[in-house]
Amino acid sequence: MKELRANTSPQPSAIVLVGFMGSGKSSIARRLARRLQCDAVDLDSYIEQRAGRRIAEIFATDGEPAFRDLETAALAECLGKADVIATGGGIVARERNRDLLRAAAAQGALIVYLRASPEVLARRIRRQPGKRPLIDGQAVLNEEETRRRVEHLLAARAAHYESCSNLVVDTDNMSLEQAMRHIISHRIQSGVQDG
Ligand code: S3P
Repeated sequence: MKELRANTSPQPSAIVLVGFMGSGKSSIARRLARRLQCDAVDLDSYIEQRAGRRIAEIFATDGEPAFRDLETAALAECLGKADVIATGGGIVARERNRDLLRAAAAQGALIVYLRASPEVLARRIRRQPGKRPLIDGQAVLNEEETRRRVEHLLAARAAHYESCSNLVVDTDNMSLEQAMRHIISHRIQSGVQDG
């Protein structure tokens, strides 16, 4: 990770990616950073580096609320420093995080909801088995059970992703590259200058 700038207010041209697990946030953030030649931070990796432990380990030993505290602190820190931020899928679960995202949007940040159907998300999640404590961290799941859990959690979060974002990208039929290009062209149409 590049060294981050020491600012405290959100980057006015920051791009923040939100969306469910498996929506492509981390991969698209990396592509955006390469294309825009800027910093990108993945909040999960940021938390892991700071804590010196994997996310699954933090969930297992300290529990989800402790992870959410680390996540809120990481979001607040990174909004002031990074140009592109990939959040974790549960970022919208806390009101404080939603407020932080909306405040960043009000200051000019582009908050992108990478929307995808439960079928597509479940398929992508199953490609990295055991990585997500809230879906398949405890047991290997078949396709149907994975989709059922995704549907359940997505139903609780979908409205929050939408209310915190100022751009929704439907990614079911898009490659990562196409999603990245879509975000860049929206940014250009909105008149944001690079650099
Ligand atoms: C979570 C999503 C994960 C990670 C943690 C919790 C969630 O990030 O932050 O396992 O609650 O949706 P990804 O969306 O990058 O998988």
